[in-house]
Amino acid sequence: MEMELAGFWVAVAVALAALFWWWNDYWYALPFRLHRGGVKLPPGNMGIPFIGEMPAFLWYFKVLCHPDDFINAKRRKYGDGIGLYRTYLFGSPTIITCTPSATKMVLQDESSFSMSWNNVELVGATSLVAVEGPAHSRVRALVVRSVNQPDALRKITLMVQPQVLASLISWSNRGRITAFKEAKKVTLASIGMYFASIESEDVLETIDDLVKGIISGLRAYPINFPGTALHYALQCRRRAKAIFRKELEKRNKFEASVPKNDLMEALMQMKDEEGNRLSEDEVLDNIVTLILAGYTSTSVAIMWAVYYLAKYPEVLLKLREEHMLISKKLGDLVTYEEIVSCKYTAKVVEEIIRMANISSFVVRTAKKDVDYKGYRIPKGWKVACWFRYFQTNPEHFEDPMCFNPDRWNEAPKAGSYLVFGGGPRMCAGNMFARLQVSVLLHHLVLGYRWKLVNPNAGMTYLPLPNPTDDVEIDITQI
Ligand code: HEM
Repeated sequence: MEMELAGFWVAVAVALAALFWWWNDYWYALPFRLHRGGVKLPPGNMGIPFIGEMPAFLWYFKVLCHPDDFINAKRRKYGDGIGLYRTYLFGSPTIITCTPSATKMVLQDESSFSMSWNNVELVGATSLVAVEGPAHSRVRALVVRSVNQPDALRKITLMVQPQVLASLISWSNRGRITAFKEAKKVTLASIGMYFASIESEDVLETIDDLVKGIISGLRAYPINFPGTALHYALQCRRRAKAIFRKELEKRNKFEASVPKNDLMEALMQMKDEEGNRLSEDEVLDNIVTLILAGYTSTSVAIMWAVYYLAKYPEVLLKLREEHMLISKKLGDLVTYEEIVSCKYTAKVVEEIIRMANISSFVVRTAKKDVDYKGYRIPKGWKVACWFRYFQTNPEHFEDPMCFNPDRWNEAPKAGSYLVFGGGPRMCAGNMFARLQVSVLLHHLVLGYRWKLVNPNAGMTYLPLPNPTDDVEIDITQI
């Protein structure tokens, strides 16, 4: 009798475990199994209730430190198919895209897929990342003109160099530095100078703290009351905006004084095609958003530049030779045209950014049911365009984990290089970022020699791909 009872409970436990294990998949796939016009969900696995496939995601990204095997495992299990997989990540049912055509379909079609923000105030309700349609095109055109086109880049090249030169001297005076920490300081100093002529180190440190607070809110649960990360992040956003509002009010008060040569001034003065200017709120929202988008990403790229050039001395040598051709005297400022003339540098910078894989994936929300090659992306589901898989896929880049600037002698296959995204939301500061890295490289390779303190440091991939020591180096002047 006792044996029978024990057997019964074991059977119940096994049934419950099986129900728990399969529940998510049945729950989300059921409407499609019940035959909705012949369409089906892409292959995949929704994981376990509430957490979905987060354990597998963390397993590959955090424990194994082989982030690309998260997708490789799906390819092995479900086949290549049409490059869509269903899953459940970060609290939402999600479709992953990992082929150029499926990803292009999502990034291009703004009438079916929208940006995905838990709280739009956190990214600035009137900033270009939050607005859509014609409002987005208008703000984007003005922002791109003021940070990403040759006239602006010419000005930026000259404005950021004093900060770069001062930082490099301070690096070598200290001898041993952590490249990521210092890259953040020099990027923020450059951005502060170009965005709003801010030089005060105290103000820059405050901005750094506020940016950290805002970013933590972007990753937090969407619960807003005192004590939550989102609440704190919203406070940080308001305080960051207040810093720039103070500067803007100063300018309005002293209208007669000489206008500043920075982004704030440019955004205040620029007119759209109908002759309208941005409102003050739009100017402030966009400045804070550009800092969020450009500060950490560019700092990470600079950190990886320091890392790869220490690891690949033959590349450093070629780079140095190229920069000697445009250098007049050590420490002299270079022009935008001179930087653009450095063709090998452009390849090195591209390879650094490809290898860095700063943005692993971007997320959209399906505004309606979308059918793609017989498979359905259901309304309300998230879509994760898995960018890092493009740059690390041997079908797109031969020997993808090898740092090889010469691969840029040829253009990549169409749609296979997505470090800056694609479609109407493609990075609005991609040329700014490339320039900032190139300018720093110019002064670094000509004036300094450095080596990694921990050349065999391990890697972490969350929240960003980093060597575990954030690239500690010993650096001296040549
Ligand atoms: C190496 C550095 C950078 C990388 C890897 C990077 C990457 C990206 C990616 C992947 C997107 C697309 C996001 C999406 O589709 O959801 C994006 C958008 C954006 N980036 Fe960057 N970015 C970098 C630097 C910068 C800089 C320096 C700025 C500004 C000065 C900037 C401003 C923006 C803005 C404003 C958007 C949104 C564009 C829109 O919604 O129209 N980024 N970036």
